[in-house]
Amino acid sequence: MKIGNIELDGAVALAPMAGITDPPFRRTVLGFGISCLWTEMISCNAVVHARKVLATMDTSEHTVPVVFQIIGKDPEIMAECARIVEDYGAAAVDINMGCPARQVIGSGGGVALMRDLKMASRIIVSVRKAIKIPLTVKMRTGWDEKSVNAPELALIAEREGVDAIVLHARNRCAGHCGPVSLDHLKLVKSTVSIPVIGNGGVMAVEDAQDMVMKTGCDGIMIGKGALGRPWFPRKILESLFDWMVISCQSNRSLGAVVKRHFEDELRWCGVVRGLHRMRKHLGWYSKGIDGAAEFRSRVFMEENPEMALALIDNFFGKVMIP
Ligand SMILES: Cc1cc2nc3c(=O)[nH]c(=O)nc-3n(C[C@H](O)[C@H](O)[C@H](O)COP(=O)(O)O)c2cc1C
Repeated sequence: MKIGNIELDGAVALAPMAGITDPPFRRTVLGFGISCLWTEMISCNAVVHARKVLATMDTSEHTVPVVFQIIGKDPEIMAECARIVEDYGAAAVDINMGCPARQVIGSGGGVALMRDLKMASRIIVSVRKAIKIPLTVKMRTGWDEKSVNAPELALIAEREGVDAIVLHARNRCAGHCGPVSLDHLKLVKSTVSIPVIGNGGVMAVEDAQDMVMKTGCDGIMIGKGALGRPWFPRKILESLFDWMVISCQSNRSLGAVVKRHFEDELRWCGVVRGLHRMRKHLGWYSKGIDGAAEFRSRVFMEENPEMALALIDNFFGKVMIP
């Protein structure tokens, strides 16, 4: 699949997830294999007024294209932000038109733009003019069941020079876990000629196969399915795109993966924040393993990184990646 002039190897992307898809997690997923990575959303105001937020966009050792997602409601500030992230090394820019957080909607950004297509269009036009790299838009099916306007917004995006659409096939009311509508994904796919990446509810290889078969979408974006399972996108690449990369990590112990992720996180954001940020990942990694509750209660209390590593080694050491 191509996003503008970027040729991807396969068509599986890691979804933007605020507070989760930081550089260490992206590197962990990349270690198994993926076609491209999305950063979590960054506020255009934060980038324009205090560039230090760009530290979270570190792309070192990212050997696949990284799409920087920006969020906001002011066309000029969004354009300035896009220019900055282009200079910073983004392979492409993605405009967030799907975030349902109350604060974001309150400020007129995210999915609120699906209720104001004029403003959505102005933002797209302004950002498109500002950058040379490819541009994508991530949207939902609509505001609610009664207002499904993703096809209309996708058409506007295509007309204004957007290179690909990511459709999170849920409406705003469905949040991050409600019902996914493959019918609406199919509708968007048949409405535009640019690539459409399907997203939402892909937790098993069969879900991805189903999504592609029923909708004809060009690519798949994985969010929650990669939590605690950074090898999951690769499974989809192998199944849907006959993808085999010999250099990828495989047949490894879960302990080695978690340890490497843990060390990377602490290196990246320091011991105190790193230990804190790793807690949710340790919860996901340990899900379903015997003794997980006891492991979590001990490791979540641990403030000494060496002791935490010893607990990780001991708990995950013998578990192999499925
Ligand atoms: C904790 C969390 C944070 C998220 N942050 C973002 C974000 O920053 N930008 C965005 O476009 N979507 C965000 N999403 C939505 C995901 O990108 C994705 O669209 C959604 O989880 C559906 O995919 P899934 O069913 O595969 O998880 C977030 C989702 C979760 C669970």
